[in-house]
Amino acid sequence: MAAEARRPSGEGSSPEPPPASAIIVGAGARGKTYAQYGLEHPDRLRIVGVAEPRAHHRNIVQQRFDLPPEAVFTDWTQLAARPRMADAVIIATQDTMHVAPAMAFADLGYHILLEKPMAVSTHDCQRIADAAKRNNVLLAVCHVLRYTPYMRKMIELIRSGAIGEVVNVSHLEPIGSWHFAHSYVRGAWRREDESSFMLMTKCCHDIDLIRHIVGKSCQRVASFGSVSHFRRDKKPPGAGMRCLSCSVEPTCPFSAKRLYLDPCREGHRGWPISGITDGEPTPPDVEEALSSGPYGRCVYECDNDVCDQQVVSMEFDGGVTATLTTAAFTHKVCQRHTRVFGTRGELEGDGDSELVWFDFATRARKVIHTGTAPATTRMTGHGGADYHLADAFVQALRQRDPTRVLSGPDETLESHLIVFAAEAARRSGQVLSVPTALKHGLHAAAAAATGAARG
Ligand SMILES: NC(=O)c1ccc[n+]([C@@H]2O[C@H](COP(=O)([O-])OP(=O)(O)OC[C@H]3O[C@@H](n4cnc5c(N)ncnc54)[C@H](O)[C@@H]3O)[C@@H](O)[C@H]2O)c1
Repeated sequence: MAAEARRPSGEGSSPEPPPASAIIVGAGARGKTYAQYGLEHPDRLRIVGVAEPRAHHRNIVQQRFDLPPEAVFTDWTQLAARPRMADAVIIATQDTMHVAPAMAFADLGYHILLEKPMAVSTHDCQRIADAAKRNNVLLAVCHVLRYTPYMRKMIELIRSGAIGEVVNVSHLEPIGSWHFAHSYVRGAWRREDESSFMLMTKCCHDIDLIRHIVGKSCQRVASFGSVSHFRRDKKPPGAGMRCLSCSVEPTCPFSAKRLYLDPCREGHRGWPISGITDGEPTPPDVEEALSSGPYGRCVYECDNDVCDQQVVSMEFDGGVTATLTTAAFTHKVCQRHTRVFGTRGELEGDGDSELVWFDFATRARKVIHTGTAPATTRMTGHGGADYHLADAFVQALRQRDPTRVLSGPDETLESHLIVFAAEAARRSGQVLSVPTALKHGLHAAAAAATGAARG
């Protein structure tokens, strides 16, 4: 089947290339999201296998795509132990479980759609990029935001000179209070040793976007941030250990009862409720999860250690500057706000579908609506970016056109390395040279910064 999908559309054949084929590694929230593209466009993408240890999620994919038992596995290593059975693999395991399958499937010749972050160390990110290049396979890292019509339009305007030379970018990632409590205080991304630091797990997207907008190499970074609120000494007097037995719960902004149980009783079943039980959530299951599982814990009594707010300052080639602000304490949930200041004008984006372009010479203010995802898709996550990323990857496979992939190994590696350098800057309290960090490692950059400060 893989060979068939790779066949060029020769003369006399249909102008439409055959569908690409893919296997899913990790059929959790993200793996099923990308598989959805195959449900909506079976003429473009066929899902032909799955590896997933959790029976409920594995069965969903098996049933949706009518997979035979011999194409269904409980562990990615079983899939990697057999000859290549598809054009591509979609790797959507958790952060610390990207490097091993990415290397193995690259060596088997699979094209790869890899969830972000690439990996959780600079060394492993480099190994993945090298493996993709060595094997001459496509590697698209899921920096979904690069792919939206909104961001494509912003980049088109900037590259066309619409606002002159870019001199500064100001970017906000509002994580959202309940979202932060779910994912980064009680959930899978709360501890650095189990996933990675917050700037990587949440904002590698944002540093990547800033680098993409500026279009130049980053030279220096500084950063500040901390666990400012979700810690024991901020616990309100009288609060309990779990929301279901807490006297303060009715007025607590982070009540797990209000986030999961009340909406479930009203019939809601989607994320984040779906993320706290193993199968389809029901009110008794959710109540049980809150009574004994991690998602019912008081947010001031968790074992979290990742920053709940952080700022990063960056200096790029030519003195272009940029700042990223991210915080848990926002009402918007991940709807970024980006302002790009140029020598001839200014662009302001709402992170979704609206751009405002102001021209200094004419004083004209133009509002541009770009739209998000097609009305027909259910892949509306990240302002439609999930759809556009999957579409670009599949089209790159079918058309044999790697230029459709906007987040390949080189650009992703570069923006990930800025993220690592920024985090090292936060920890050391120093302004770090990104080229030094890239060339000689983060420790060397910190040592050089110490020397510079002393000198
Ligand atoms: N691009 C984005 O905007 C975005 C958004 C959210 C999450 N993510 C990233 O996507 C990845 C997955 O996140 P998620 O929310 O889907 O997590 P998830 O926990 O829902 O899914 C991960 C799945 O991997 C499975 N798995 C574990 N061991 C496995 C093995 N040996 N073989 C095969 N599968 C295995 C788990 O059972 C689970 O179902 C993470 O790296 C996360 O940071 C990216």
